[in-house]
Amino acid sequence: MDHKKEQQKQQAARAAADYIKEGMTIGLGSGTTSRYLIREAGKRYGQGLHFYGIATSRDSEQLAASLGIPLLEPEQAGKIHLAIDGVDEIDREFRAVKGGGGALLREKIIASWAEEVIWIMDESKLVERLGAFPFPVETVPFGMPFVKRRIADMGAVPALRMGDGKSYLTDSGNFILDVQFAENTDISQAAEQIRNMPGVVETGYFGQMCSRIAAGTSSGVKVMENPHRAV
Ligand code: A5P
Repeated sequence: MDHKKEQQKQQAARAAADYIKEGMTIGLGSGTTSRYLIREAGKRYGQGLHFYGIATSRDSEQLAASLGIPLLEPEQAGKIHLAIDGVDEIDREFRAVKGGGGALLREKIIASWAEEVIWIMDESKLVERLGAFPFPVETVPFGMPFVKRRIADMGAVPALRMGDGKSYLTDSGNFILDVQFAENTDISQAAEQIRNMPGVVETGYFGQMCSRIAAGTSSGVKVMENPHRAV
């Protein structure tokens, strides 16, 4: 385990937890950085800060429930005041790629409904250019072979995500293709093209959805506001 990285994730999570206020409904992200956030939020709940959570994955749901955070189902949730989640990579324009943990669909639904969105991360996630991280594409199982061929026709290399020797299944029962694009591919354009292929449920391209980011760095946490926020 890279202790420096873990410390940065934890610092970012703590900084983001400061935005949780009494009575809010909070979208709880997924992945290792979000686990720090959920633990911190659980601690604050135990100290008397009351809020509701809505989880972006079963894992996050279980962790939050184990810490005593009251959880809402989508039909119970009115406003989502704030969503806090990790990213796999993010560029200077605040455009992010997510879904390395497989929870991209619920993550995008929650982020798109939230009034405010904070992405939390260690500094390794800040990149000059998106594209190094394999780009996740969620497909219905029947559509996967067709989508895979069409993505290969774009000159990219799609690989079916595996887990425990079988095709990995998302919480919604779908497959994930991890796509490596050719160098200098415009990820936002490629994502739009893929999003329009029948059989695709969602992609890991998260445009400029965040209100701000909190990044743990070697010189402390940096909180940056996104001037381009687009939901
Ligand atoms: C889960 O599907 C992802 O979007 C995660 O939020 C993202 O992969 C970041 O994960 P880590 O915090 O584990 O790096």
